[in-house]
Amino acid sequence: MTRRIGICTGGGDAPGLNAVIRAFVKYGGGRLGWDILGIEDCFNGLLDRPLRVRSLTPRDCQGLLQRGGTMLGTTNRGDPFALSTADGGRVDRSLDLKGGAEELGLEGIVVVGGDGTQAIGLRLMDELGIPVVGVPKTIDNDLSNTDLTFGFTSAVAVATEALDRLHTTAESHDRVLVLEVMGRDAGHIALHAGISGGADVILIPEIPYDPDRVAAKILARRAKGRPFSIVVVAEGALPKGAPTDPATRKQRIRQGRGAAAIVMAQLEGRIQAEMRACVLGHLQRGGSPAPFDRLLATRFGVGAVDLVVQERWGHLVCLRNGEIGSVAIRDAVAQKFVDPKGEFVRTAIATGVELGADLPL
Ligand code: F6P
Repeated sequence: MTRRIGICTGGGDAPGLNAVIRAFVKYGGGRLGWDILGIEDCFNGLLDRPLRVRSLTPRDCQGLLQRGGTMLGTTNRGDPFALSTADGGRVDRSLDLKGGAEELGLEGIVVVGGDGTQAIGLRLMDELGIPVVGVPKTIDNDLSNTDLTFGFTSAVAVATEALDRLHTTAESHDRVLVLEVMGRDAGHIALHAGISGGADVILIPEIPYDPDRVAAKILARRAKGRPFSIVVVAEGALPKGAPTDPATRKQRIRQGRGAAAIVMAQLEGRIQAEMRACVLGHLQRGGSPAPFDRLLATRFGVGAVDLVVQERWGHLVCLRNGEIGSVAIRDAVAQKFVDPKGEFVRTAIATGVELGADLPL
């Protein structure tokens, strides 16, 4: 009997999602002859009636490799165990999802998503008996147990290009330019792009910053005849002493009380300089994946087929020491943060970047 496998994409989109789908369909559908059903808008396609799924063949994947976003749609508000209702409440619709999967005769579902989506996938398997295989995704690169997630390199490239552009205008006007990049909980994008783009100051959520140190760096540059400065700040970065719990942080970001504005307010009165903020936002998530992400996403798609072939349900594809491997999803949903004592932070400090705290080299 032909195997029938579903695939869905969940959480915030990331460049490379389509490349995963394409590789999975080309290998699983094209070479192995499986029926592959694309589930629309993460798990929601299995909750709605009529069901929102579409059959995917290699022909449907033409031109997908370089296309950003996800052809299946996505949502970060689609937890079937606690779905939002119109009156602001929550309802458990997980049994409807199970019914939808059974109606379609799905043997299992490949779930492409970040920590939140993978945690839901695990519950589908543990509590409802729906077999899942995971593929990690996030531009933030903050998933443990995989060296890298696709989308990260593309986001870093966008942020680095932005820094290059900001440099020339900052230098022309002798200004302080503050670039805010994504990274609600983890500062990988800020740190990587900041080093690649030659930022003078990099501020990340993992290292609460001292505004006096940031001001001192800018003044020291001025004293050396460099009257402009570039600051990169992750959206989750805050001055020391500010509440850093995830819920407060998330609410602040959603309310638009941005990290760049906070940095500028902190510097006000500490330095005499013209300052401007640039919030890069979703530009980091849109557009074509960088070559590395196309390759990684394609390898992940092939790896997901291999896991289904081996019936290693409950496992997530990962990249370890440059090679595709797998890990149990329950061990993989923890977040990965920048290590303040790690090599990337050390590289920044060694090359004169200010991180807002007194860190040993
Ligand atoms: O998790 C990826 C991410 O890009 C975060 O860095 C950011 O805070 C969040 O998504 C933004 O999500 P949304 O698209 O819901 O605004």
